[in-house]
Amino acid sequence: MVTLRDMIPDDAQALQRIYSGASVRYTTGRALTINEAQDKICAALVRAAQKPREQWTWGIAVEGELIGRIALRRRTPVMATLSYILREDTWGNGYATEAARHVVQFAFTTAGLDRLEAMHHPANPASGRVLAKAGFTRTGTSDRCAEDGTAVPYQVYALESLVPRGQG
Ligand SMILES: CC(C)(COP(=O)(O)OP(=O)(O)OC[C@H]1O[C@@H](n2cnc3c(N)ncnc32)[C@H](O)[C@@H]1OP(=O)(O)O)[C@@H](O)C(=O)NCCC(=O)NCCS
Repeated sequence: MVTLRDMIPDDAQALQRIYSGASVRYTTGRALTINEAQDKICAALVRAAQKPREQWTWGIAVEGELIGRIALRRRTPVMATLSYILREDTWGNGYATEAARHVVQFAFTTAGLDRLEAMHHPANPASGRVLAKAGFTRTGTSDRCAEDGTAVPYQVYALESLVPRGQG
């Protein structure tokens, strides 16, 4: 079973293992250094104290072990984007889908959001499956510039709350 929890400074090594190998191929493009992992956790702790809250970051844990990270970033007062990354050796167990479902529930209740969006690299269909299983619908593509200057059509997804605003 997946548990979402706040990350703590001691998670830096586990986070570094998450951001490596195939997990970064279609996301950040390179592995994190331990300093960057520490900075990422610090930034999450700082953002957790902001009011109004602009970003929520959780560690994804299974049987007490940190295996991933999932985040919501507010883009407008009622819309946020969802992103996630799991350690490569934990893929294929439904963990990302379970984590995404928890965050969708949180977004439309506790956070008071009414729309979520997400996107993934076209060569990363597993991420599209996660979004579809969490209730998202593909809405189109958005070109992002690759390092070689070519345009990459990222697949864009959205999910709207069925609960009218103010009744969440
Ligand atoms: C995308 C990612 C989060 C998936 O994590 P996961 O825990 O393996 O996901 P789940 O097990 O919940 O679901 C994966 C689904 O993708 C499917 N899948 C896996 N590889 C696939 C492929 N090459 N083509 C199509 N579907 C694929 C799986 O079969 C599963 O669907 P199913 O339940 O219908 O069989 C993980 O691969 C990852 O961290 N990738 C790198 C980071 C990333 O891409 N993040 C997304 C951008 S925000």
